Amino acid sequence: MNIELPTGLEHYEFIWDLHEDIHYPNLWLYLTRKQPGTIKPELTPDNKPDRRNFSWSEFFKNTDHVELEIGSGKGGFMNQWAKLHPDRSMLGSEWDVRWARQAVKKFEASRHQNLAMLSGDIFYFLQNHVPDNSLDAAHMYFPDPWPKKKHHKFRLLKEPFLKELRRALKPGSTKFYWATDHQNYNEEACALMESMDFITCIQTDAPPTDGIMTGFETKYRQEGRPIYRSVWEFKS
Ligand SMILES: C[S@@+](CC[C@H](N)C(=O)[O-])C[C@H]1O[C@@H](n2cnc3c(N)ncnc32)[C@H](O)[C@@H]1O
Repeated sequence: MNIELPTGLEHYEFIWDLHEDIHYPNLWLYLTRKQPGTIKPELTPDNKPDRRNFSWSEFFKNTDHVELEIGSGKGGFMNQWAKLHPDRSMLGSEWDVRWARQAVKKFEASRHQNLAMLSGDIFYFLQNHVPDNSLDAAHMYFPDPWPKKKHHKFRLLKEPFLKELRRALKPGSTKFYWATDHQNYNEEACALMESMDFITCIQTDAPPTDGIMTGFETKYRQEGRPIYRSVWEFKS
């Protein structure tokens, strides 16, 4: 596919592609920048979206109920969640392919059929591929906080992201589970969500979802860091 790249990016070669890793079943590789030694797709020509048709049935046998985890790390949350919800499916996402591989290895060892991982940038996948009204819930636990003020612009939970989530979530009341250890990110994220007329906070000081602590949460609690958890409802 030919993509007209923004000025300055012409020397980069991008793959706008989604395919299953031949060595790791249920690991889907998406939008990797082709450059030896790099892992993260740091730059993406997002002004030229490739609206490839995508259906959840490419990932899951059961598409009746699909949830999304944003930034899954090594997949610890999903692996436990799947034991409690064998009748639901969940896509995890992780742009570090090494962690994504560890996640799918866990799923395979647990014989979960209802989990898949996307290795790539979840924002672009959500924006360009996830069909309207197709998700039952979304989870975002301990996203990279980008603590320096000049880096706040890289935070994922921003208005465009929330608008894409709204489009992708099924109409009615669908839940968005949020957690961070970073006070400023929490304050900014909650203030932004409060300001949007289609999002309502339904629980503050929420316990871990289904009683499951994520990998980072376990570590942070041991370190005595504060944990900010809340549950939000997206309305159509
Ligand atoms: C601090 S870790 C938290 C992992 C896990 N949720 C936990 O609580 O243990 C955040 C993860 O999100 C991933 N991440 C950040 N931005 C992402 C993006 N746009 N798409 C996919 N993964 C992303 C990072 O690579 C990192 O592994």
